[in-house]
Amino acid sequence: MKDQYNGVARFLHWSIALLIIVNVLVALYMDELPKADKISVESLHRSIGILILEMVIFRIFWAFYKPAPPLPDSIPAKEKKLGKIVQHSLYLLMLLVPVFGYLLTITEGDPASFFNLYNLPAIMGENEAWQEFFEEGHEILAWTLVALSSLHIAAGIKHLISKDGIFERMWPKK
Ligand code: HEM
Repeated sequence: MKDQYNGVARFLHWSIALLIIVNVLVALYMDELPKADKISVESLHRSIGILILEMVIFRIFWAFYKPAPPLPDSIPAKEKKLGKIVQHSLYLLMLLVPVFGYLLTITEGDPASFFNLYNLPAIMGENEAWQEFFEEGHEILAWTLVALSSLHIAAGIKHLISKDGIFERMWPKK
């Protein structure tokens, strides 16, 4: 299909979306657990979060290398502008949420381990005040990401129902 996102962008879009949903569910589950059982679920949450961070960084480079196809003229300028604002805010949040998670982990004195394969560098030492700041920030930003993603999903469903061809730009090729 003409004016469709390229295959790499579509693959990253749907896999990052799925990983964010899974990681929010893992976080909610982990919150309910007693401290002793929490460790393995928490390290899964951290690893998935690091994977999301790496994929989002790659996605941003890819967006510069292969920019999005232009939107059709049938979409009103105001709607185009709103879509851009939401999408750029989503990129920012998808970077900030895992970065705050990483900083909260290292200021807690824990390693930011990626599936026990390697650790992200401990650029800060254990520090209770910063740990509280990053923990609060991680929560607020994560729930803002969930709220904005819901708006993004609602817009996607609206395009799917109105059959204006916008949803298909991000859907796998027929
Ligand atoms: C896009 C990726 C991520 C999402 C969507 C996400 C989401 C969340 C959510 C929703 C919570 C629960 C907040 C609450 O209690 O209301 C949470 C907690 C937590 N996250 Fe993440 N997170 C991500 C990445 C990361 C990363 C990369 C790390 C560390 C390397 C991390 C470490 C933590 C930790 C340690 C907690 C528990 C905080 C506490 O002690 O209450 N997260 N995350």
